[in-house]
Amino acid sequence: MHQIKTICVCGAGTMGGGIAQMSAQAGYKTILFDLNDAIIDKCKNSIEQSWETLVLKNKVAASDKQAFQQRISFTSNIQDCRADLIIEAIIEKLSAKVELFQQLAEINPINTIFTTNTSSISINKIAQKLDDPFRFAGMHFFNPAPVMKLVELISGEQTNEMVIKVLMEVCKKMGKTAVVCKDSPGFIVNRVARQYYLESLFLLENGLTDFETIDQVMESIGFKMGPFKLMDLIGIDINYNVSKIVWEDLGKPKRLMPSALQEQKVLKAELGRKTGKGFYEYEVENQNSKFKIQN
Ligand SMILES: NC(=O)c1ccc[n+]([C@@H]2O[C@H](COP(=O)([O-])OP(=O)(O)OC[C@H]3O[C@@H](n4cnc5c(N)ncnc54)[C@H](O)[C@@H]3O)[C@@H](O)[C@H]2O)c1
Repeated sequence: MHQIKTICVCGAGTMGGGIAQMSAQAGYKTILFDLNDAIIDKCKNSIEQSWETLVLKNKVAASDKQAFQQRISFTSNIQDCRADLIIEAIIEKLSAKVELFQQLAEINPINTIFTTNTSSISINKIAQKLDDPFRFAGMHFFNPAPVMKLVELISGEQTNEMVIKVLMEVCKKMGKTAVVCKDSPGFIVNRVARQYYLESLFLLENGLTDFETIDQVMESIGFKMGPFKLMDLIGIDINYNVSKIVWEDLGKPKRLMPSALQEQKVLKAELGRKTGKGFYEYEVENQNSKFKIQN
């Protein structure tokens, strides 16, 4: 079986940083690439802080932390992105992803495996634009990547079975639970969870109750996080985009129509934790801090 030694994660945003952290912890030589140097610096600090916390909590030995640090490198130069496995976690835009894969194919060997962390773009649609769709699959991590165990491995029509086997091994080494599914709008989790967000937004839009109450009620019956806290965590732009793509790809059924209220939030750049304001407000310097409820 194809041996993975080096992993390159593209995109150092909400998802890429966590995935790169897990990759380095799992023993892979890890390259984290982003176009934006400021985002790279922020991501580097955040990964450092996570490792520091793990050491302070005695979950990781100081020597392990050093080994993790030695295994990871950060770059804004695409020429550094040579690896056995590419995990793409850049913006949710088909053309941007395709362009990146095409650039990476030119500088990588013919057995490099290409994966995308897309939440909603069809794996087959991306694959159609690639010279070698057999080495391409979806590798869908959940937010926050270091904490959430599940990874959906999405097999496109042309994905080689061996590629999925290799990815299962990588997930296992990262301590993740992988499930394999075929390409279809929203895959499994984002398809089933759509109604959780959409019905909650509908209740709010129609003035039937407020968002804090909806969160409280859903948490009280066993959901770990209410829909509005969850949308703020995911990024309202990302969540809205997923809704739009799933709705369009399924032929625009009325029951899955995206929310106008959510679109307004995106237009106002109230995107959730990452901008300091979504449905709730956050201390910008510590986006994991407690919720400060909006007036
Ligand atoms: N946010 C979530 O909860 C979540 C969960 C699962 C999957 N995803 C998916 O993961 C991907 C990334 O989402 P995110 O929330 O981390 O986005 P984000 O906006 O936080 O980060 C995207 C990063 O990609 C960088 N970027 C943009 N174009 C680039 C390019 N050509 N090359 C290198 N870097 C580039 C940006 O500078 C930015 O840092 C998306 O496909 C999204 O659908 C997101």
